[in-house]
Amino acid sequence: VADIRKLYGDTGMFTYDPGFTSTASCESKITYIDGDEGVLLYRGYPIDQLAEHGDFLETCYLLLYGELPTATQKADFDYRITRHTMVHEQMARFFQGFRRDAHPMAVMVASVGALSAFYHDSTNIADPVERMVASTRMIAKLPTLAAMAYKYSIGQPFVYPKNDLDYTSNFLRMCFAVPCEEYKVNPVMSRALDRFFMLHADHEQNASTSTVRLAGSSGANPFACVAAGIASLWGPAHGGANEAVLKMLAEIGTPDRIPIYIAKAKDKNDPFRLMGFGHRVYKNYDPRAKIMQRTTREVLAELGVKDDLLDVAIELERIALHDEYFIEKKLYPNIDFYSGITLKAMGLPTTMFTVLFAVARTVGWIAQWKEMIEDPGSKIGRPRQLYTGEKQRDYLPMSKR
Ligand code: ACO
Repeated sequence: VADIRKLYGDTGMFTYDPGFTSTASCESKITYIDGDEGVLLYRGYPIDQLAEHGDFLETCYLLLYGELPTATQKADFDYRITRHTMVHEQMARFFQGFRRDAHPMAVMVASVGALSAFYHDSTNIADPVERMVASTRMIAKLPTLAAMAYKYSIGQPFVYPKNDLDYTSNFLRMCFAVPCEEYKVNPVMSRALDRFFMLHADHEQNASTSTVRLAGSSGANPFACVAAGIASLWGPAHGGANEAVLKMLAEIGTPDRIPIYIAKAKDKNDPFRLMGFGHRVYKNYDPRAKIMQRTTREVLAELGVKDDLLDVAIELERIALHDEYFIEKKLYPNIDFYSGITLKAMGLPTTMFTVLFAVARTVGWIAQWKEMIEDPGSKIGRPRQLYTGEKQRDYLPMSKR
């Protein structure tokens, strides 16, 4: 403490909280999590009720405006989003600069960042109208960019938005339609993906959302802030986890090999962790994981797919939930544990999983960014540090080093 005072002056309380495990960085009215009870509320509404009765754009409206829309408000909001789904034609040429084998998340970081170059008429954050236009543009255009990233990676032509379809069906069509063939959206797939979007729409101050807020706190434009959020989401400890879960389940291969991996996860000399297990906030079953598990079963039943990975996942969950180590450390399946199996069954490659997460989380990032910008008390984010380096010392000429 004496050293801290010497370094920083006796300026009152100074806390050292690596990973911000117990420091609130802001006040927020958007999302509430009770990690011990496994509760998630968007603007006060339980996630399971929203996922059961609502749709993604209704959830977007709720997160952005704080209330569920009336029928007129919903129709108007859907119309506004639909009007903005096209991206500037030059974006298509921008895409041509990427290697075909680039990870779609790399393409997303770059193309969403580039939106600020294409739509600089909505980057004045002091203007509430421009803020809303930028927000609408991002919710509308992220699925288009995500589908373009996918099509580009498989060498197929881009599919333009078809705006008489709903948000999620439109996205599926942009991903899977091919020229000269009729594409009919499967309503079960569309509903499942819409639910995936709802479940991922916001999750208070996670790493990517905190990144968006920190970037935005300097006054950076919202497109750049969301691009920063996408970069943060890409990591395997965050949005990249569902991709990692599938890799792990495939590596396990058959239920009889599960004990080997449980033992590896418990071995402190082995860096291996059970992917899709554990959460910084939930110390109980992630409420989204339950809904996702149900959705996975619905999708597999609809497609008539028998996926051995689901059997491995269910058995792994059963064993882990009865294992002392996992009970003691309160490690339960998180949403990523089942989402990968669902997306794979829909025909999406693993490299697209985090991209879909980014599409869904965009509304959360924007709602949080807007809340911060509109809060008169918000300040530029500037964490302090505990300096542990060298004391002051004199420069040494090269001949004396
Ligand atoms: N497998 C095995 N052990 C684990 C796991 C796991 N998945 N998760 C945590 N632990 C252990 C740690 O080794 C640690 O043990 P120790 O007390 O003996 O040192 C203890 O549980 C606490 O772990 P922390 O890393 O301190 O917990 P934290 O809250 O910081 O981490 C995290 C949360 C990053 C999600 C972690 O549980 C993890 O790495 N899980 C696997 C990756 C994953 O599924 N990420 C998705 C998160 S959800 C999302 O982003 C949507």
